[in-house]
This record gives sequence, C-alpha cells and structure tokens, in this order.
Amino acid sequence: MATVTFDSATRMYPKADRPAVDNLDLEIGDGEFLVLVGPSGCGKSTSLRMLAGLEEIDAGSIRIGDRDVSDAPPKDRDIAMVFQNYALYPHMTVEQNMGFALKIAGVAKDEIGRRVAEAAKILDLEDYLLRRPKALSGGQRQRVAMGRAIVRNPQVFLMDEPLSNLDAKLRVQTRTQIAALQRRLAVTTVYVTHDQVEAMTMGDRVAVLRDGVLQQCDTPGALYERPANTFVAGFIGSPAMNVVTGPAVDGGVRLAGAVLPVPREKLARAAAGTGRVTVGFRPESLETAPPGEGVPVVVNVVEQLGSDAFLYATLGADDDGDVLHTADVVVRTEPRTAAAVGETVHLRVREDCLHVFDPVTQLRVD
Ligand SMILES: Nc1ncnc2c1ncn2[C@@H]1O[C@H](COP(=O)(O)OP(=O)(O)OP(=O)(O)O)[C@@H](O)[C@H]1O
Ligand SMILES: [Mg+2]
Repeated sequence: MATVTFDSATRMYPKADRPAVDNLDLEIGDGEFLVLVGPSGCGKSTSLRMLAGLEEIDAGSIRIGDRDVSDAPPKDRDIAMVFQNYALYPHMTVEQNMGFALKIAGVAKDEIGRRVAEAAKILDLEDYLLRRPKALSGGQRQRVAMGRAIVRNPQVFLMDEPLSNLDAKLRVQTRTQIAALQRRLAVTTVYVTHDQVEAMTMGDRVAVLRDGVLQQCDTPGALYERPANTFVAGFIGSPAMNVVTGPAVDGGVRLAGAVLPVPREKLARAAAGTGRVTVGFRPESLETAPPGEGVPVVVNVVEQLGSDAFLYATLGADDDGDVLHTADVVVRTEPRTAAAVGETVHLRVREDCLHVFDPVTQLRVD
C-alpha cells in the first residue's frame, strides 16, 4: 500500500492552448478513497492517466509512496486500472480474464488460481468463472473488471467512471459494494466520476476540478458545508445551491426589494471592492417567513417528490433595477405545506446556513 502525491503535475496536450491538468497538487493518503469529480472535459481522466503512466507529465511530478514515478512505464507503477468500458477480452472466460495480467507477468499457475478464486469469492462471481463476458449482465461484467484489478494486488486502484454503463438502480447498489470492498481491501484508490452524488457517497475525500484546475479537496461534509468558491457551491448538492448577487446595504444584501441579513463582518469584506455581495443558500436552508419579512419569490413550478416538495421560483429584480437580473431560486419544503403556482412566498435563510462570496473573485468569505 502507498500514498500518492501529485506535485504541481501539469499536462499540456500538443497544440492545446491551455493545460488539460494545470499545476495539480494533491496528496492521497495510504488506503484512502479519493474521488476526482468535475464537469466533462475538466481533466479527470487525464489526471488519472498521468498517474497510470498512460499520459506524459509536462511539468511537476507524481510519486507513489516515496518513489518518483513521473518517468516510469505503466507496468512498473504497481497500479491496476478499471476502465469505463471494462475492456474485457470477449474470447476469454471470466476466470481467464481475471487471471490474464498475472499470466503475462509470469505468475505461477496455482498462484493465479488461488488469487482468482479469492477475488471471485469476494465479488460473488464463483458461479460465473467459466462463462464468457457476453453471457454476463452489465453488473457482472463490472465485477469481472474489478476482479481483474483485485487479483493483481496493486498498491493503487485507479477507476475511471466504472459505473457509467450500469442502469440507475444497479449503479447505486454497485457504488455501495465498491466503497465497502475498498474499505475492506484498504488499497489506496483514485476514482473518477462526473456524478457529484457518487463522489459524495463514495469518497473519503473529494477533489473538485474545473478547467484543469483543482478547486477544493476535502471531505464530503466539508465540501457541502464550506465550499471554497461559487463553482464548488453550485456543483456539490442537488438541487444546486442558489447563488445570487445584489447590492450590499445596511445589515445585508438587497434582493427583490427586501434585505436578506448578512453578518456585518462578512458583508464588509465581500462588498469592499464593488458594493455588491454574492450569497448562497441551499434549497433545504430556506424557510417561509410571514409576509412583510423575508425575500419575496414567485412560484413557477411545484415538484412533488412524496418525501418533500421543491418549489422552483423566481426572485424578482429590484424596483429600482439595482439587482443585476432576476434569478431562479429552488426551495425545498414540506410536501403538505407546498405553495401553489403563481403564488408569492416570502423566504428567509435558516440561521448559520448562509454562504457569502466575493462577487469578483467568487471566493468564499468567512
Ligand atoms: N489525447 C488528447 N489530445 C488532446 N486533447 C485531449 C486529449 N485527451 C483529452 N484532451 C482534452 O483535455 C481536456 C481534459 O480531458 P479529460 O479526458 O481529462 O476530461 P474528463 O474530465 O475526463 O471529461 P469526461 O467527464 O468527459 O470524461 C479536454 O479539454 C479534452 O478535450
Ligand atoms: Mg473522462
């Protein structure tokens, strides 16, 4: 087992105008499950491939344990990768697929048999060892791909969207299994997904990338409670955090003619440059206020989910046109007290649930 360290690691593809991965600094602990998450094209797969040795590193370095592997060929890095498409050999049985890398590495036959049998037991594949991949379900194929990585007993697992070929229900089941398996094997794991729910439920820590730049790396709880900037604030959580900007006034930010209270200190710092402040509040952090209090919004759509309801509403522009634009606001409410379409409801933010950001740098103000 080992730690993994990205030290200002940078990848610039030929002819690209900016790096696909830009100065990445990341320390992954021994046995840790680290998730790389971010929108399409943000550099997740490139980061993983740099670690695997499938992609050159143009600047900086990568270490596994205290070994600098920046220039080591993939086979010398002691890692095992699970790809999105599984890449199983169609003409081989499950058993042969799982043992193939060991066979190539010259491992003795009975040792291969022992490791494959052990992995098959862990993954509940014992009844399928003699089948070929085409006779397996998607979930079983996914487990064979995992098995192929496990038998190699590597220092690090790398997984690139390994669940994206599964249907929604199986994806939820399998993500729990993978997380439990990783904890049991305690092998350092770097897992790539674009799905923030997957990231939040699986990772010990989650690293959020945007345009090749690391935005924040922290525990799921910390990312949710204290997003470092408006990008992370909007990316983590579903429905997303509401983020709006308005003029700073005495006591808070003016939105739709009302004042949403903002702690004095934060307000002063956020508004120092522009007289404006950006605030964020999650759908579940809102509650209705009596008329005359709170910020008015007009309800456009009511979504009933049984356990709760979501109001999709519009925050009106200020009377004097001072707010930049109208904004959409999502509110989670009790299903039975849900408001009706067209109605104006007044909202306030629960205590200590307001996030404050600098409207220019987009960084969190604490
Ligand atoms: N072989 C390549 N040559 C040139 N540019 C590439 C190459 N592979 C990826 N890129 C570019 O590098 C950037 C990062 O790509 P990458 O595949 O790492 O994204 P990703 O985060 O994995 O996205 P997705 O969620 O869509 O898989 C993108 O802008 C992509 O177009
Ligand atoms: Mg990718």
